[in-house]
Amino acid sequence: MSTETQTQQRTDGDGADRQTLTVIDNRTGRTYELPIVDGTVRGLDLREIKTSEEDFGVMAYDPGYANVASCRSSVTYLDGEKGILQYRGYPIEQLAENSSYIEVAYLLVHGELPTPAELEEWTHQITIHTFVHENVKGFMQGFRHDAHPMGMLLGSVGALSTFYPDANNISDPENRYIQTIRLIAKMPTLAAFAFRHSNGQPYVYPDNDLRYAGNFLSMMYKMTELKYQPDPRLERALDVLFILHADHEQNCSTSAVRGVGSSRVDPYSALAGGIAALYGPLHGGANEAVLRMLHRIEHKENIPDFLRGVEEGKERLMGFGHRVYKNYDPRAKIIKAAADDVFEVVGKRNPLLDIALELEKIALGDEYFIEHKLYPNVDFYSGLIYEALGLPVEMFPVMFAIGRTSGWIANWLEQVQDPEQRIARPRQIYTGQRDRLYVPLEQR
Ligand code: CMC
Repeated sequence: MSTETQTQQRTDGDGADRQTLTVIDNRTGRTYELPIVDGTVRGLDLREIKTSEEDFGVMAYDPGYANVASCRSSVTYLDGEKGILQYRGYPIEQLAENSSYIEVAYLLVHGELPTPAELEEWTHQITIHTFVHENVKGFMQGFRHDAHPMGMLLGSVGALSTFYPDANNISDPENRYIQTIRLIAKMPTLAAFAFRHSNGQPYVYPDNDLRYAGNFLSMMYKMTELKYQPDPRLERALDVLFILHADHEQNCSTSAVRGVGSSRVDPYSALAGGIAALYGPLHGGANEAVLRMLHRIEHKENIPDFLRGVEEGKERLMGFGHRVYKNYDPRAKIIKAAADDVFEVVGKRNPLLDIALELEKIALGDEYFIEHKLYPNVDFYSGLIYEALGLPVEMFPVMFAIGRTSGWIANWLEQVQDPEQRIARPRQIYTGQRDRLYVPLEQR
């Protein structure tokens, strides 16, 4: 097939636009006309392009799925060139300024902002489902003292599927709803238990008088006081972080949730897949990597040397670059502002912030970064806030997972109700040998 495919927008005799792609297969001289719908051609239409009847047909090869739309979704809109992020059509900036994480979770799951009565009921449902079965606690106690909290979260969310075996009845809307509530409600509880476990401290049960982020702070930090009173500014900063992380279209972990969920497994197992994907340093582990990087740079004077290493391909500037954003990540701007509030409350400015600011300033004016369209992403500043909140770096991806839960579940709900979705099963280009004769062990 010609590497030069030609798109043509011609006009029919009757004047109607033809939304098609004409492809000439230079191997056979045949011409194919593929329909273009929503700016896409169907992958399976390429299969018609064959050299003979026996030929399998042409496939698209796209490792990393950089240019493949795997679903139709109305959850999150992202324009990486312009730096736009919207949940259900609402700009992230407006939600971060005016909304709460619980309201945003409702928006993502239901598609609309709630009325006051709907919000009250939703909040009530989530609040009364924050407790976990005592055996979950016992299960978590079985982890080694130095277990990574993200590994503990991954294992315990997967284990929830054994506590709610009815969750595999995913075709029942009521059943899906209760699992949705449980996942959003219990994620902070499991995350806080993982944190306390790492510290060798007793687990703190949820306090249902507190709001979502405040209750999480209580489960993390409550010691001997009878009632933990979260600082409203810290509570708000955390809520904003959860909002900013709530969804991000078909990212690695959401695709993992959809990929696992496409087998029609229960949502706990599907979300455990998402947590596993988020664990990696190129995804949710990036904020941890940013902090380690800033510690390693240590002084502003070391920045030029470090950036030279990046340009020579020896290093990667963590917290910079994004598969989709080729502009400033809108979430990074909001986080940068929230960082100042947090530093004010905790009473000390993190010296790493100065290194981060200087790094950003130099990188944004550097030819390598301009040419590669590399800008700060959400993780460049979030780690600094988490550190100011007293969280160890191992907890950073866990914080990301709490926020992302509502986005994962919204995508999962959309997927299981989408009649077009099938089990995720990509193809491969086989590069190995074939038809070899087995050689008995003694002859090798
Ligand atoms: N530092 C230096 N060079 C980079 C960076 C970076 N952070 N990111 C990309 N590049 C270069 C890369 O070397 C390559 O250069 P060349 O074309 O000359 O070989 C080019 O830019 C394209 O990079 P890529 O790795 O092919 O791009 P990708 O779309 O596959 O990767 C990414 C996206 C986010 C994995 C990558 O930018 C990266 O590793 N960033 C650092 C980790 C990070 O901050 N991740 C958090 C992402 S935001 C939160 C989330 O959604 O998870």
